[in-house]
Amino acid sequence: MNHFIAVSDLSSGEVQDLLDLAIRLKKEYFEKGNPPLFKGKVLGMIFQKPSLRTRVSFDMAMRHMGGDALYLSPNEIGLGQRESIADVARVLSGYVHALMARVFQHEHILELAKWSSIPVVNALSDYNHPCQAMGDALTIQEKFGKAKGLNVTFVGDGNNVAVSMMHISAKLGWNFTIANPEGYDLNPKAVEIAKSIAKETGSRLNFLRDPHEAVKGAQVIYTDTWTSMGQEEETAKREKVFPPYQVNAKLVGEADKDVIVMHCLPAHRNHELTDDVADGPHSMIFPQAHNRLHAQKAILARLFDVA
Ligand code: CP
Ligand code: NVA
Repeated sequence: MNHFIAVSDLSSGEVQDLLDLAIRLKKEYFEKGNPPLFKGKVLGMIFQKPSLRTRVSFDMAMRHMGGDALYLSPNEIGLGQRESIADVARVLSGYVHALMARVFQHEHILELAKWSSIPVVNALSDYNHPCQAMGDALTIQEKFGKAKGLNVTFVGDGNNVAVSMMHISAKLGWNFTIANPEGYDLNPKAVEIAKSIAKETGSRLNFLRDPHEAVKGAQVIYTDTWTSMGQEEETAKREKVFPPYQVNAKLVGEADKDVIVMHCLPAHRNHELTDDVADGPHSMIFPQAHNRLHAQKAILARLFDVA
C-alpha cells in the first residue's frame, strides 16, 4: 500500500486484512498499550475543513504508537492558493513521514499523492471518506461478525460518506441499499465502480427513493448530514427536501429488530437523526467514532510497513 485514497483501490482481502489488524491493535491497546512501532515518525495533517474526530483520532493514533503528528490549518498552508499542491507535497515530503489531508476537491488528494514521495491518506474529500468507512466496517464486524450478506441501508444524501460505505459494503460482500431524494444521487462513477466490485463479491446494490422500502430487513441503517461541508449555501433548499429521509424511531422500527444505527458525526440532531434514536439502544454513533482510532492505526501501520 503506497497511499490510502479510496476503499475501491484495495482488494477485498486487503480491506479485511486492515480490519483484522485494527482489531488486533485495538485489543493490544486496551490490554497493555501499543508498542512504539511509529517511533521517529511524524504525520503531517493538512486540513482545508474543520474536524473533531479525524484530527484527534489521527493525532492520538500516532501518539499511542510512539509517533507524533503535526496539524496544518487551512490558513497556514493555503493549499493550492499560497502555493501549488505539487510544491506543498514535495516540500512536506522532506519534513514528515506521511501526510493526511482533508480537502474540498478530490483531485487535490490525487495531486498530493502524485507529487509526494511519502504516503498520503485521504481524510475526506467531496468524493469519499475512506477512513470513516474503515472504522464503520470495524464497528459492523464487531457487532455482526464477518458474515457476508448483511443488509446495509444508507438513508439521505448520496454524499462522500455514502460512496465509501457503498464501496466497503461491496468489497465485504454486504448488500448496499440507498434511499435518497431525486437530485441527490450517488456519484455515477462511484456507482459504476461499486457495480463492478459487487459482480465479484456477490453483493447486491439497490438504488431507491423510498426510505421505508429501503430499511426493510436492514441490519445497518446509516445516515449523515443533509448538507456537507462546502455546500452551506444550499442548506435552506436541502432542509426542505430531506425531512422524509429523517432517521427516527418509526423508520428504525421498520428495519431488522437487531438493526444498528450509524452516523459518521457531526450530527444535526432532530434533522437527519432524532435524539431518541441517536441516544437509543440501536445507536452505534459513539463506538463507530471511537473505532476511527483503531482503524487508522492499522492504515498507518500498513503504510509505514511496520505491522
Ligand atoms: N466523521 C468525521 O470525519 O468527523 P470530523 O469531521 O469531526 O473529523
Ligand atoms: N458528509 C459530511 C461528512 C463529515 C464528516 C461532510 O462532508 O461534511
